[in-house]
Amino acid sequence: MTDDTENDPQDAIDSESQFRPEELDDRIFEHGAGDEQEGIPFVGAGPGDPRLLTVAGKELLEAADLVVHAGSLVNSELLAAYCAHAELVNSIGKNLEELIPLMRDAYESGENVVRLHSGDPAIYGAALEQMDALEYEGVPTYFVPGVTSAFAASATLRTQLTLNEVSNHVAFTRPQGKTLTPEEDHISDFVEMGDVTTCIYLGTHAVRDTMDRLLEDDHDPETPVAVIYHASWPDEDVIVGSVGDIADKVEQAGYRASALVVIGDAVTGTGYERSFLYGDWANRGASSETVSETEAGDD
Ligand SMILES: C[S@@+](CC[C@H](N)C(=O)[O-])C[C@H]1O[C@@H](n2cnc3c(N)ncnc32)[C@H](O)[C@@H]1O
Repeated sequence: MTDDTENDPQDAIDSESQFRPEELDDRIFEHGAGDEQEGIPFVGAGPGDPRLLTVAGKELLEAADLVVHAGSLVNSELLAAYCAHAELVNSIGKNLEELIPLMRDAYESGENVVRLHSGDPAIYGAALEQMDALEYEGVPTYFVPGVTSAFAASATLRTQLTLNEVSNHVAFTRPQGKTLTPEEDHISDFVEMGDVTTCIYLGTHAVRDTMDRLLEDDHDPETPVAVIYHASWPDEDVIVGSVGDIADKVEQAGYRASALVVIGDAVTGTGYERSFLYGDWANRGASSETVSETEAGDD
């Protein structure tokens, strides 16, 4: 830890990465997710609808003096409802060298600072690097989870992401691009597995490329796909189709960002079998305490 304002955030990341495996952070055992803690909370705003913010998140925002938020990814109605009294700073277009001193200085001068991410900060949120840089400068931080957009999308679609005998797994992924090389893009592998619901973040602009690659890899063009634009926002829109035709439909609608692409049979909510939990296990008279989650699951 140091008072130097010129710290390179990469040094902070490297330092935290080096010490993290050697000594587990005591706070892991002292606090549960949802506990209010000392430091700057990294709060998940949820997918858009202010009512999908957690109670913990709402309380922290209402007590904040400074809210650094994820710009247009956070619904301005949520900011108006819970942050009217706070100074608001849009993080879009600011680098770590600007954001870290801004949050650190406010925190050290006694302000309640909240870092507000869209959805859940742990999913494509680039939160940990900010937290490591702050911790390196002596400012404690912690996560407050939020509803990730895949969960809003499944609610909109009125289906489950896991569905007995249809989908046993969920992949949160993103397509190749500036961040991922073609070799790191595993969308085709997930689709190949068959019983995976593949939720693609940051891929609205790349729907055609993604579908073209799936077709090149000989995936069934009839595989169901849904694209949920702005899930839970007032202008939410849903486009349903298949690997073979979804790209045309998305281009026709004109969406280039802010949508979640969901691939797999669970999209349709059909073809599933009744579960063990409310079938064989219940028939054996097992109480909920004696049916372990490994045996029955939740579905
Ligand atoms: C930088 S990532 C942040 C994800 C966020 N942390 C989460 O948990 O949802 C932004 C991407 O999330 C997806 N996304 C965020 N909010 C969404 C919403 N309300 N509806 C659909 N997709 C959304 C889009 O794919 C968008 O490109």
